[in-house]
Amino acid sequence: MEHERLPTIIQGGMGAGVSGWPLARAVSKAGQLGVVSGTALDAILARRLQLGDVGGHMRRALERFPIPDVAQRIFDRYFIAGGKPEDQPFKSKPVPKEKPSRHLEELLVVSNFVEVSLAREGHDAPVGINYLEKIQLPNLPSIYGAMLAGVTYVLMGAGIPRAIPGILDRLAQHQPVELRLDVHGADSGDVFTTCFDPNSFCGGAAPDLVRPDFLAIVASSTLATMLARKASGKVNGFVIEGPTAGGHNAPPRGKLQLSVEGEPLYGERDVVDLEAIKALGLPFWLAGSYAQPERVVEALRLGAAGVQIGTAFAYCEESGIDRELKEHVLAMSRTGDARVFTDPIASPTGFPFKVVQIEGTHSDAATYETRSRICDLSYLRHAYKKPDGTLGWRCPSEPVEDYLRKGGDIEDTRGRKCVCNSLMANIGLGQIQRDGELEKPLVTSGDDVANVARFLKPGARSYKAADVLAYLLRDMTATIRPAPEECAAS
Ligand SMILES: Cc1cc2nc3c(=O)[nH]c(=O)nc-3n(C[C@H](O)[C@H](O)[C@H](O)COP(=O)(O)O)c2cc1C
Ligand code: SF4
Repeated sequence: MEHERLPTIIQGGMGAGVSGWPLARAVSKAGQLGVVSGTALDAILARRLQLGDVGGHMRRALERFPIPDVAQRIFDRYFIAGGKPEDQPFKSKPVPKEKPSRHLEELLVVSNFVEVSLAREGHDAPVGINYLEKIQLPNLPSIYGAMLAGVTYVLMGAGIPRAIPGILDRLAQHQPVELRLDVHGADSGDVFTTCFDPNSFCGGAAPDLVRPDFLAIVASSTLATMLARKASGKVNGFVIEGPTAGGHNAPPRGKLQLSVEGEPLYGERDVVDLEAIKALGLPFWLAGSYAQPERVVEALRLGAAGVQIGTAFAYCEESGIDRELKEHVLAMSRTGDARVFTDPIASPTGFPFKVVQIEGTHSDAATYETRSRICDLSYLRHAYKKPDGTLGWRCPSEPVEDYLRKGGDIEDTRGRKCVCNSLMANIGLGQIQRDGELEKPLVTSGDDVANVARFLKPGARSYKAADVLAYLLRDMTATIRPAPEECAAS
């Protein structure tokens, strides 16, 4: 690793916009690793500007973008002084494409730059950015934007990010990059790609950049070993995530078996072989219900560099979740009513997705049934090969007739939810759709949500990221100080 000190706590990337710049900044300023989510930042920037850029943060960061014309074009296209009328929908932005328009490429680079740049304000500590491997199309310009803003770590999960380490090497040396797309129904000889060229983006010589460290988020030692040996460049470490973590989870090994309630059942085969991970000689962090001081100590004893924590940070003041929603879940946690359901089918990614059960949100099947299906954000569409050999895009959560017309199977559409739109609603950026309906939230969290109220002081309705850090590191000084005999011996 390039950095003198590895973080003990990584604040996990939480999309979309839950780990935004205020949370990552607070954690990094406090000496641990703050991570912004890199998911859907183009839509998030476009919508924040349409709400009038409350606080002027977007404008402040846009002014720092190294190519002023590019930042100005985005500002001119989306900014609405005083904000859009409440009952008006957000203006759309282009959906991800394998050959993005110049505008979409600019929006992706700039929005990732803005988020990292704001997270880095006022301190020199490292900041990371998290992407999902499955959302392939925006990743190249997004990573470049984050690198332009000086991101120190890129973390990636939800897939096999074998190509990314080499892409970081090349982008740092302003070389063009290419990403092979995963295409359903493609033959072994078919190659579909998306590309990005820093020099052409910058209109001449692109600057030399520092290559961020790459941490792969995995749920098995087999995948970690494969990545350590066969990735296109150096993998600098791993986050090992277990099935109680918030967000998407890796499916259980073998044939999917469900509990009586309908949740995936995990067993012995899903327990990660930490000895095999240790043997790789790279630092690793453990994730999934580690937000307790004793568990941090336990992770260190097991040889980890530390832990990655999500849920405990998702409900602190600095997180991007809509304030009322946050307070509602905290109140549920306080009364013992906060519960997650690991939904094996809700997410169109096909990964189990942990959903907090909240009345009136899209966790509730009856509420979701009233929604008219629409695919307008399109981050979670899958690529497929059309009969004429060209590339098509479909999502099992889109209107069923569209999915079937594109050759999809009706079975895939059952129980699927529009995760893209719901995640934007979670952070107060929900769309008003054509039928006049405001998109509703679908909140994800780990099992730890049941106990998240432990951070509330008596009478308080909120807590800060610093409270989480102080709690997690409470037992650390005692643990890492060597025993007296060892001191004497050295
Ligand atoms: C609201 C929320 C959103 C998340 N989104 C992502 C994501 O976009 N990418 C990712 O790699 N992990 C995501 N995660 C997982 C976290 O980064 C972290 O690994 C996990 O929450 C750790 O387990 P814990 O929730 O028990 O602390 C998310 C977690 C939460 C709670
Ligand atoms: S249907 Fe919804 S979840 Fe699927 S890609 Fe479109 S916007 Fe995203």
